[in-house]
Amino acid sequence: MEVIETIDALRERLRGEPSVACVPTMGNIHEGHLSLVRIARQHAPLVVTTIFVNPLQFGANDDFDSYPRTFAEDCEKLAREGNAIVFHPDETQMYPEAQVFTVEPPPVANKLEGRFRPGHFRGVATVVLKLFNMVQPHYAVFGKKDYQQISIVRHMVEQLALPVKIIPAETVRSEDGLALSSRNRYLSTAERAEAPRLQRVLQRVKDQVEAGERLFEAIEFAADAELARHGWHVDYVVVRSRRTLMQPAAHERELVVLGAAKLGNTRLIDNLEIMAPG
Ligand code: PAF
Repeated sequence: MEVIETIDALRERLRGEPSVACVPTMGNIHEGHLSLVRIARQHAPLVVTTIFVNPLQFGANDDFDSYPRTFAEDCEKLAREGNAIVFHPDETQMYPEAQVFTVEPPPVANKLEGRFRPGHFRGVATVVLKLFNMVQPHYAVFGKKDYQQISIVRHMVEQLALPVKIIPAETVRSEDGLALSSRNRYLSTAERAEAPRLQRVLQRVKDQVEAGERLFEAIEFAADAELARHGWHVDYVVVRSRRTLMQPAAHERELVVLGAAKLGNTRLIDNLEIMAPG
């Protein structure tokens, strides 16, 4: 597997490649990322995984400094998975000067995750656009665990007519249902045992809505209360339209329940798609 650290070297290496799939990551590769690489390989013979912890998407109170950086192990895992190239730029490559041109996503980016992480999706959209300009992939694979992220990236690609097809990938979970995340490593043993409750609570919401319940506020309130009872600090548990991530219209069927809550100091997010009865 090749490791490339500069934009010039990357462009040189990829010149003339007929089909490239990209997996953008911030490293600390786990089974969830490897599943994205496997999906990328089904779409293109050459997979470029990018590893860059993007300061632009972290707020002042976020965990940028302590975000796990495990480059050597990441490369071993990616190589075993048949990933061809790791693009690992440093900050001087990505941001040689202060980034004054940024991608401003629409107002939905200030809701849900954006409400708790102001400016986060501006940072994500900006770095993803830059990575796409560098790699120029035909395909890019993103996990559905970051549901709002993939929704914003898809919208950006559509509106800016970027020549890349976004491939959504299902969330990978541990046996007890916890969605895999680099942040799970921050959980204490007791918190790790409690953490799968988030998925179970979202599953209950999904079951209720799929059984025909449409009093979303009441369902959300009960979900929130159950998490709070077990020591979670809940940011949100909401049912939204999959298309807009806003409140669902009266008869809208393609929905998603999204949750974000803190266990101790660790903030977890998860979601489940819902198909409401017609
Ligand atoms: O999902 C992530 O790991 C990041 O938000 C991304 C897409 C790599 C942009 O930095």
